[in-house]
Amino acid sequence: MTDPTNERKIEHIRAIERDPETDRHGHWFDRILLTNRALPELALDEIDPSTDFLGKRLSFPLLVSSMTGGDHELVRTINTNLAIAAERCQVAMAVGSQRVMFTHPAAEASFALREHAPSTVLIGNVGGVQLNYGFDLDQCRRAVDILAADALYFHLNPLQEAVQPEGDTDFRGIADRIGEVGRQLGVPVLLKEVGAGLSAADIALGLSQGIQYFDLAGSGGTSWSRIEHHRRHDGSDIGLRFQDWGLPTPLALQQAAPFLDRATLIASGGLRDGIDMVKSVILGASLCGMAAPLLQPAMESAEAVVAVIERLRREFITAMFLLGTPDMSALFRNRALIVQER
Ligand code: FNR
Repeated sequence: MTDPTNERKIEHIRAIERDPETDRHGHWFDRILLTNRALPELALDEIDPSTDFLGKRLSFPLLVSSMTGGDHELVRTINTNLAIAAERCQVAMAVGSQRVMFTHPAAEASFALREHAPSTVLIGNVGGVQLNYGFDLDQCRRAVDILAADALYFHLNPLQEAVQPEGDTDFRGIADRIGEVGRQLGVPVLLKEVGAGLSAADIALGLSQGIQYFDLAGSGGTSWSRIEHHRRHDGSDIGLRFQDWGLPTPLALQQAAPFLDRATLIASGGLRDGIDMVKSVILGASLCGMAAPLLQPAMESAEAVVAVIERLRREFITAMFLLGTPDMSALFRNRALIVQER
């Protein structure tokens, strides 16, 4: 029997493959100009980009952002390759929405990734709005357990739901419900958008519910509004109209800065190289997520994913060297490194 939630996963991947413009190439980070140290007074080899996240040491602050899961060979391959590469490179990985496990139990295998990534940070993922559509604490627990996850993402995607013909659009009381789950789950809860950005008001609401981790997932990269446009066959162009809606990631980081004494931020949405990552850390991100750039390599092999991660790490270290910053503490929130914001 075909299950719409399971089929949707493949439709999303195919839409991204067919239409390169689902990645909006916003280049928002290019508006931030950093300084250059001609006398860095450091050796390139001594730069230490490692960092702690959720009590584990990462080789540098990269997160393989949430992408997929489901009962398809391709989806299992993607997740397995991402998990093997995340473990080998000691970076964090989040899975895509685990809702499909509950409509289609054969999808569980695609999330059982701990055997491939025994030591690194793994994060589960469920849709926040699903708490208004029958999802409960037990299912959140099951989502964490299958992955032996270090934490659980709640993705918040009102734009995506609003432009989908079959979208779940009742977001009333969701902050309360996530807060309730968060107090009972036993692992930390993180909030994320999916490419339109968390606002300062969202972070304030999350903090009031005891949530400390916020993945801004701003605009400039993958546009879910545009992806959903390809799944509409009723002549509506609402998904195209809203394809660039939202807070570009660097602006979302700036808006979130006043909360940094209480909130841990993750930057994602349109980050495309190690320089974007360095700028994100300067603006207050503890971790930097990328999804779209890792999708194609993950369809190929774990080695292809490792090659992209190693390139990102090299770029990140090179930028740290040129900024004269030997470690993450010298980079984090160091706005003196910015010479101009356009
Ligand atoms: C995603 N994203 C996503 N997010 C989420 O919370 N649950 C999900 O199931 C998915 N699925 C998904 C599939 C694919 C193929 C992509 C490319 C992305 C969103 C992702 O985690 C991230 O927040 C945004 O894509 C922004 O990052 P990029 O793609 O601009 O680097």
